[in-house]
Amino acid sequence: MKVVKTVEELRETLEVLRQENKYVGFVPTMGALHKGHLSLVDRAGEKCDVVVVSIFVNPTQFNNPDDLTRYPRDLDTDIAFLDTTKCNIIFAPSVEEVYPDEDKRQFDFGDLDKVMEGEFRPGHFNGVAQVVSRLFNMVKPDKAFFGLKDFQQLAIIRKMARDLELPIEIVPCPIMREDSGLAMSSRNQLLSPQQRKNAPVIAQTLFESVNFAPEKPVHEVINFVTGRINEVEGFEVEYFNIVNGDTLMPVQDWNECDYIVGCIAVFAGKIRLIDNVIYKNISHEC
Ligand code: PAF
Repeated sequence: MKVVKTVEELRETLEVLRQENKYVGFVPTMGALHKGHLSLVDRAGEKCDVVVVSIFVNPTQFNNPDDLTRYPRDLDTDIAFLDTTKCNIIFAPSVEEVYPDEDKRQFDFGDLDKVMEGEFRPGHFNGVAQVVSRLFNMVKPDKAFFGLKDFQQLAIIRKMARDLELPIEIVPCPIMREDSGLAMSSRNQLLSPQQRKNAPVIAQTLFESVNFAPEKPVHEVINFVTGRINEVEGFEVEYFNIVNGDTLMPVQDWNECDYIVGCIAVFAGKIRLIDNVIYKNISHEC
């Protein structure tokens, strides 16, 4: 496994591999790696000859400066972790390497960023698109792998790749969960022991709601999920939307479309956790 820090070194390394007709898979990350990332790397390793993992905490996607400061960073641990995986190249650039000049691009995601994360974290997805488009341009992968935990991010990246006509297949990968159900996230390590003990309530409530969802109206399911999680001390639901999985627009009725997903953001103290659950899927593979 090779660790490269500059775009030039990355391009030189990949050029050699491309001349050998190697198929390149890419897993963009912000580090603080966990088993969820491992599953993305594994999937990339199954589908591609070479796996590139980027580790870069992208400042332009943090609308809250404290969140950026707090974000966990430990490159040496991440390198040691990736050394045990199918990763071939780690790309760990500096901020100056990724943004030699300020990126002033404004992306148009249609209505996809008007709700949920887009509503509560203004500018977040523009920052994500800035960095992912730059990383795509640097790595030029054949396939790029993203977790379904960031459900809205995946929709945004798909749109960006389509709009920019990038010849990259965007591959969605399932949410990885701890035994308790808690979705794996780099932010979990910021939780206090008590918050961590309580955090599985998010996934457990979502799963429970799936069982009775079809019989209950959508608004009752929303009230159930929000009410149950807000009962936990120190936990507060920022939003819980039940949406059309393609358009991300809220649905009022279970018969409205074939693909329905519940997306949630919860504050556990100052730590913001997101998760989602599929209520209905008769039209999509993943
Ligand atoms: O999902 C993430 O970790 C980040 O948003 C990404 C895609 C690596 C861009 O910084």
